[in-house]
Amino acid sequence: METFARDLREKIQSELTRYETPRSAILPILHLIQDHCEWIQPMHVEGLEREFGLSRVHVQEVATFYSMYRLEPCKPFRILFCDNLVCAMMGAEGVMDKIRSHMASFPTDKCPFSLQGVPCLGVCDGAPAMLVNKERHLRVNRDNVDAILASYK
Ligand code: FES
Repeated sequence: METFARDLREKIQSELTRYETPRSAILPILHLIQDHCEWIQPMHVEGLEREFGLSRVHVQEVATFYSMYRLEPCKPFRILFCDNLVCAMMGAEGVMDKIRSHMASFPTDKCPFSLQGVPCLGVCDGAPAMLVNKERHLRVNRDNVDAILASYK
């Protein structure tokens, strides 16, 4: 049984022909899969190895290295919180703990948020910084984070 729908298979195949080595095509192929399937599942990684000869280890390395790839089902609001040096010094971990507590207040499977620590978001002067989907929030702290999260319903 094939892992990928026909149109996605064709796009993956086309992407593979654009690069000198198949390994070089992993980034765009993962984007294709994510665009089609919303998140990259273990079966996709296995399918890339079985059907296209891409090493499962290489694909997994790339998929887990970059925060732009989703490795779990999407929630309506994806929080990317910078945990790099400047934000860490400005209290990022404490704010993330508060976000985790907020998320834990929802019944299982009802939480509309996912949280992921990411490298520098490029707005260090506004540390600690986070993105909720594509919306940027600066100077997030333990006092204002609840109001920010409450604005997402
Ligand atoms: S270190 Fe957090 S935005 Fe740069």
